Amino acid sequence: MKKVLFGGDYNPEQWPEEVWSEDMNLFGEAHIETLTVGVFSWSIIQKDENTYDFSVLDKIMEFLQANNKNVCLATGTAAHPPWMANKYPEVTRVDFEGRKRKFGQRHNSCPNSPVYQKYSKLLAEKIATRYHHYNNIIAWHVNNEYGGTCYCENCEKAFRSWLQKKYGTLEKLNDAWNTTFWSHYFYDWEEIVVPNALSEHYNKENVTAFQGITLDYMRFNSDSMLANFIAEKEIVKDITPGIPVTTNFMGMYRPLDYFKWAKHLDFISWDNYPPDMHSEARMALTHSLMRGLKKGQPFWLMEQTPSTTACRDINPVKRPGVMRLWSYQALAHGADAILFFQMRKSKGASEKYHGAVIDHSGRNDTRVFKEITGLGEELLLLENEVIGAVTKAKVALVFDWDCWWAVEISDGPSRYISYQQTMIHYYQALYKLNVDIDVIGLDQSLEDYEIVIAPLLHMMKDNYYQKLEEFVEKGGIFVTTYLSGIVDEYDNAILDVSPGLLKNLLGIRIDETDTLHPADHNLICLDHGKLQGSYTCNLIFDLVQTENAEIIATYGKDFYAGLPVITKNHYGAGEAWYIGSQPEAALLEVLFSQLTEQKGIASDIEADQGLEIVRRHKEDKVFTFILNHSDETKNIVLPNHCFCVLEQNYYEKGEQITLPAKEVRILRETKYI
Ligand code: GLA
Ligand code: ZN
Repeated sequence: MKKVLFGGDYNPEQWPEEVWSEDMNLFGEAHIETLTVGVFSWSIIQKDENTYDFSVLDKIMEFLQANNKNVCLATGTAAHPPWMANKYPEVTRVDFEGRKRKFGQRHNSCPNSPVYQKYSKLLAEKIATRYHHYNNIIAWHVNNEYGGTCYCENCEKAFRSWLQKKYGTLEKLNDAWNTTFWSHYFYDWEEIVVPNALSEHYNKENVTAFQGITLDYMRFNSDSMLANFIAEKEIVKDITPGIPVTTNFMGMYRPLDYFKWAKHLDFISWDNYPPDMHSEARMALTHSLMRGLKKGQPFWLMEQTPSTTACRDINPVKRPGVMRLWSYQALAHGADAILFFQMRKSKGASEKYHGAVIDHSGRNDTRVFKEITGLGEELLLLENEVIGAVTKAKVALVFDWDCWWAVEISDGPSRYISYQQTMIHYYQALYKLNVDIDVIGLDQSLEDYEIVIAPLLHMMKDNYYQKLEEFVEKGGIFVTTYLSGIVDEYDNAILDVSPGLLKNLLGIRIDETDTLHPADHNLICLDHGKLQGSYTCNLIFDLVQTENAEIIATYGKDFYAGLPVITKNHYGAGEAWYIGSQPEAALLEVLFSQLTEQKGIASDIEADQGLEIVRRHKEDKVFTFILNHSDETKNIVLPNHCFCVLEQNYYEKGEQITLPAKEVRILRETKYI
């Protein structure tokens, strides 16, 4: 594929056929060629247990083929039809409170219901068999945004089998869950029940009496939905082996371990709905995480709204230029497809006010349609340019779902510690320096990196500490924080001083950890070379003692004033840094700026603060994306002669570019120039 794919979710079954031709004309105008169809079509395809009627989907498929459109074809299994819930109540879920759900909403099926499994596979099979001869199907879209949790009896049974497979014997399970605590020793698999508000939890999903049980249920729930995905994937792959398969992820979505899922997808796709208008760093982090799921491979932006969402309490429209800017941000971080939800605005139900490429009126002169058309035209300029280009980052942020779960379901030391917010906090400081950053899982090699940052590396799985030791030994810089290295994969404490398995690498010892209300602050007093000054910190305060490490900063207040809070340990040819409290952003910026300079990987572009600068590489070409998310004009000075792909003009080395608010440049350099 040479063109950036452009289009999105298309649900023509929701409006009269006369409108379809109008849609095609408008798509033509906007250079839209890729349409995702059939995502929520199950109930119009299957009206009862035995009756399938494909007439509507047939028409849509024929129509799209006749109009030379690419199809991303859904298996349609993300919302079961009413008859199924009525006849087989087992297909609906039981929620965290233990309430049996009735028919309603979507993403509503129990992943362990044999009835759901049977009919979802059958639907995928029938769709694949019926349309396999269409040569315009470019991808399979299995289900939609897998998510949520179920606590029904089928899940309970399946959980016991999952545990039997994992532990083999009850003895091992009892040991892993530490069941001698609070009289929990299990003598029969049947004694094990699902952990929810009726059992181990104190009414909140994060508050459990047994972390080991809850953690395994989180893993099990993610695996259950993954098994649904794999079952459908295998069916469509059998019938159409050449068509790549994906399902749309939701970015930093806690319930599903996407690193585990990613291995089973042919390519990654995800839906970008940031919580507000000022989340550019968070979006950049999420794009990088989604790219990191399959390193070296481009991903699809499967959904974003052209203007507004509908499900939030307040749903602001994207300001002029923002839809274009965020689309280019996705490209900058590795996307090769820019798709929207949705093509035409729904007539009724909960998404009738959700933004769409085409409004209820079908007009081509709305601001949104005009901006989409502008972007569609512009993307033609990118043909044969960035497609397939990769990110070559020297800095990696380590992200792990088990650590996320374990940190947040922990009783103590503080419920205010958020894995996601911490990741954003660290990423944001790096992002401001305009260095490329990979977000990687524990499986990934560290060979490509100079700096590896792993905040809240709580759970030490698969001897990951050895990989880190090797990385630092060879000259790498490693940075970690409080609550790292101290539990094993079952969430049991490492029986040693904190930071447990990282103690040798970090050269420190922590005997006590204080936590305070987020509003209460201490001070971090830096006094080490260029790192000087005092900064605030809050939430958590490790009382660090150095063994081999050097003291970089000490606390400024409380009974531990003067004790180390930031340390650096020389280990082999590298350095291992420890940050024992949550510092204000400015401290991280100063620290990372020094570390990137030290490694010779600081950005070579002289730019005003507030621009995002990201690179993709392809053969001898480097594409530099410059994005102005701010509301002000910004300037940059170019280090090299380059060609702007969007403006189609050349810039000389040393020339200044003035970039208006919300503007973008994509600069192509050829390495030998
Ligand atoms: C999700 C879904 C879509 C649609 C959008 C609305 O991402 O996948 O079907 O509901 O949200 O924002
Ligand atoms: Zn269930």
